[in-house]
Amino acid sequence: MTPDFDFTRWMTGQLDAVERALDAWVNVDATLSQGHQAPADLMAAMRYAVLDGGKRLRPLLVLAAAQTTGCTADHPAALRAACAVELIHAYSLVHDDMPCMDNDVLRRGKPTVHVRYGEAVALLAGDALQALAFELLTPPGGEVPDAQQAALCGLLARAAGCAGMAGGQAIDLASVGLRLTEPQLREMHRLKTGALLQASVLMGAACGSGSVSASALSSLQNYGGAIGLAFQVVDDILDVTADSATLGKTAGKDADADKPTYVSLLGLPRARAYAQELHAQALAALTQSGLNDVRALRALADMVVERSH
Ligand code: IPE
Ligand code: IPE
Ligand code: MG
Ligand code: MG
Ligand code: MG
Repeated sequence: MTPDFDFTRWMTGQLDAVERALDAWVNVDATLSQGHQAPADLMAAMRYAVLDGGKRLRPLLVLAAAQTTGCTADHPAALRAACAVELIHAYSLVHDDMPCMDNDVLRRGKPTVHVRYGEAVALLAGDALQALAFELLTPPGGEVPDAQQAALCGLLARAAGCAGMAGGQAIDLASVGLRLTEPQLREMHRLKTGALLQASVLMGAACGSGSVSASALSSLQNYGGAIGLAFQVVDDILDVTADSATLGKTAGKDADADKPTYVSLLGLPRARAYAQELHAQALAALTQSGLNDVRALRALADMVVERSH
């Protein structure tokens, strides 16, 4: 009989590995050759953006999906993929908070990067974090096979770019003051937030040495799509229901900025019901996958909809 799965214990172990790896990789010693000076404030701003905060949901999804293919957090590709996706996420937050986008002064309980380091350094820190993500996925020396490097880079690039996060952010900015239809809002949320969460799952699955069947992969894709969208629906809900201290970012910003959200479109009760519906879809996709060890993925789906921040 398999022992009961202790999700808290699993998560503590994964988070510890991720924090240590991010601290080591977002580091002047790791990125600059000896004798080079760190450019003024840039690495400090990058570390400020990445370390000491964040739920690390995307790395956890990578590692949980990798586990379904038999990889653990000490697997080189899985840990690199987990950190790479977090770097893209951190960069997206730095830019999302800038005055030209959401103009936020609080993130992860601290002043935002542009408030602390100025707009130009914040812009460059985001750029450099994006580049570092792809550097992590392409280590020299055969630690990660070439074909796996290419697959991971492709998944991450597509999710971050015009057809993913950046495209969704462009729609978000163009939608201020508009009343979107439900399909339009869903598309915006799928792109700006869902794409990176879905890619986290697919990147994890791409880390295993054995191949995942096409039908299992399609189920994981459905799981990632459902929790990716659910995550942003819950983000919209929390913006209305939680306070800034709990969120670590300014509450009530969406209504203030006249952004279309699931709460503004459907109202709170129906937005909550939709998050539950997506949660059920995610769990059904896991059952459908036929994969062996989906316990961490299941617990992460619960976390996405039950979270308080
Ligand atoms: C916030 O993401 C931005 C969205 C995509 C909604 P998270 O809520 O995952 O932020 P951190 O990483 O925990 O700070
Ligand atoms: C952000 O959505 C999505 C990103 C790609 C960063 P939001 O603008 O709603 O995220 P928060 O609420 O500022 O974290
Ligand atoms: Mg935004
Ligand atoms: Mg924002
Ligand atoms: Mg938000």
